[in-house]
Amino acid sequence: MDTKRVRKAVIPAAGLGTRFLPATKALPKEMLPIVDKPTIQFIVEEAKKSGIEDILIVTGKNKRAIENHFDSNPELEQDLEKTGKSELLKLTQGITDLGVNLYYTRQPHPAGLGDAIYRAKSFVAGEPFVVMLGDDLMDDKIPLTKQLMNDYEQTHASTIAVMKVPHKEVSKYGVIAPDGKVNDSLYNVKNFVEKPAIDKAPSDLAIIGRYLLTPEIFDILAETKPGRGGEVQLTDAIDTLNKTQRVFAHVFKGKRHDVGNKEGYLETSIEYGLNHPETKDDLRKYILKLAQKLS
Ligand code: UTP
Repeated sequence: MDTKRVRKAVIPAAGLGTRFLPATKALPKEMLPIVDKPTIQFIVEEAKKSGIEDILIVTGKNKRAIENHFDSNPELEQDLEKTGKSELLKLTQGITDLGVNLYYTRQPHPAGLGDAIYRAKSFVAGEPFVVMLGDDLMDDKIPLTKQLMNDYEQTHASTIAVMKVPHKEVSKYGVIAPDGKVNDSLYNVKNFVEKPAIDKAPSDLAIIGRYLLTPEIFDILAETKPGRGGEVQLTDAIDTLNKTQRVFAHVFKGKRHDVGNKEGYLETSIEYGLNHPETKDDLRKYILKLAQKLS
């Protein structure tokens, strides 16, 4: 059992983003903005708010824009300074000075989420760590990553974030077979199943994009054969981990925005736009007018 503090995060971002083609042919899916901020920046900010110090982003071909986004841009900054756009300058420089260390590695082929996480083995170096997927933006008073880290302080065990989803959608997710509650938000788990058929799903509790894992996952990933879709599935490795040490499921009670599909992406853009100081008033007026027309 590992009792070290959790201070590292891995953000896999090497997928092909096929659900957003043609936009993602040359542009990383993780750089698609919600109003004016790329989705991956929300994830890095959640890590920072949770007290994570080191982040490894697993990238691949066509993903250079991610590294550029978190780097400085002297030409742009000089221009903003010269033209007196101090707010924009602060915003731009803030992305470089986030106060977390960012590291990058490449996954040569998009061989699955499990394979992407395996690339983080040396970075993680035997510590417990979190995995954060860019497809899910989470809103809650305490960031979900921090909630998992709080659980870890009590249990010193791997904990996977889950949420109840409509039954007809379970086959899109990894799903847990719960095995009794530990407390109001924590379950023991019998097993983890990746994308079960609707009639075979052990529950409606789906794995959402935050995981806290002990480093023993790497030995298991090394042995995990490609599963569903010919990809090395992280869910399969977690199910094996659960056979040798406790793995809990943490039920998220905040608001989840699934920005990994077109409709969720559009809905989230509207909701965030209705909260953004520059867009909220005009967007609200526009939506009310549009709603009248549609009804
Ligand atoms: P997704 O399945 O949501 O991402 O994987 P995708 O494959 O890019 O998108 P679609 O399904 O084709 O539209 C979840 C996360 O895992 C990463 C993705 O970048 C995404 O952030 N991932 C997935 C990898 O890093 N490597 C992989 O081999 C697969």
